[in-house]
Amino acid sequence: MKSSSRGAVDPFIVMDVMEEARRLEAAGRSIIHMEVGQPGTPAPEAAREALAQAMATGSLGYTVALGLPELRSGIAALYRRWYGVDLDPARVVVTSGSSAAFLLAFTALFEAGDRVGLGEPGYPSYRQILRALSLRPVGIPTQVENRLQPVPADLESVEMAGLIVASPGNPTGTMLDHAAMTALISHCAGRGISFVSDEIYHGLHYGARAVSALEITDDCYVINSFSKYFSMTGWRVGWMVVPEDHIRTVERLAQNMFICPPHASQIVALAALGCIDELEANRTTYAKNRQLMLEGLPLAGFTKIAPPDGAFYVYADVSDLTGDSLAFAREILHEAGVAVTPGLDFDPVRGRQTLRFSYARATGDIIEGLARLRAFMALRPDGNVR
Ligand SMILES: Cc1ncc(COP(=O)(O)O)c(C=O)c1O
Repeated sequence: MKSSSRGAVDPFIVMDVMEEARRLEAAGRSIIHMEVGQPGTPAPEAAREALAQAMATGSLGYTVALGLPELRSGIAALYRRWYGVDLDPARVVVTSGSSAAFLLAFTALFEAGDRVGLGEPGYPSYRQILRALSLRPVGIPTQVENRLQPVPADLESVEMAGLIVASPGNPTGTMLDHAAMTALISHCAGRGISFVSDEIYHGLHYGARAVSALEITDDCYVINSFSKYFSMTGWRVGWMVVPEDHIRTVERLAQNMFICPPHASQIVALAALGCIDELEANRTTYAKNRQLMLEGLPLAGFTKIAPPDGAFYVYADVSDLTGDSLAFAREILHEAGVAVTPGLDFDPVRGRQTLRFSYARATGDIIEGLARLRAFMALRPDGNVR
């Protein structure tokens, strides 16, 4: 049977690394997971209990397409709690993870063939989802001096219908402060460019909190998720905030594409909104892990790293060690027993010389992983990978 050219997207390399790590584990190897961008912790306990109760008493059928009204209200209340922003719950769309939100957003905002800008390095699936929707991703190389986030000067000569930013970003963990976010939003507003803000790592900061685009404008799409701060990757539940005049368009798309997000996951998400103590304890663990990474990676020989403001990643420039991050990551996995992500996932060009280390797992794993990396690097004959 014929297959479409738009379906021929690139693999998500980190998923391939995860699979290779799983194969080694199945063969009896011990692997430390510094590749995965997911918490090692489960969904908060009280949230899982809420689901157990709901399962005992309810049928868990379809919900309305935009999500349980009480969950939409709970998410709107989070904007008051986190940013002091009053948000009409009607503008909140509950989705099957932020991944489904991207499908909805890109379909609602763009015509086939439109060019959509994204900062490089950046989350790889933006590019692939855009391509699968017959849109044209436009990579915007960002600069180290701007902490690998786009600035208006990078956008000036770039023709595009939309721009996606992520703060804190993946793979860098760097953030756009209020002034930087405002500058990007003003630039886009001036040129009629739709602004999409991926805020999936909000809640996970180690200094100042992240700024939401909604603190600056209502004329944007904001995408978020229960996957990261709320420790619920596998539940596949996220949300999107859209301008008032886009609600009905998105509702019709959501009805037809998804019917609704999983009912069970919405129940867990609603209860998770109230589990602050447990979630903040997770954040304390990440903060400790981050410190260990910032101390331990340079000792192992990964010296070119910028301290991340948020999320749970360290992005390292390994140009002094390799020109082939895929081969280097494979070598680290097989020789050191540590799974890491090659930068090629995030930047098709400069990513040949970068690696992403995740510190989302338990502190004991981070200590062991760093020890393995140090031992591995010390044994390498000339410190170079060819
Ligand atoms: C920046 C960013 N956006 C979106 C996602 C997708 O998350 P989910 O679909 O689990 O909400 C990820 C996952 O790692 C991510 O790093």
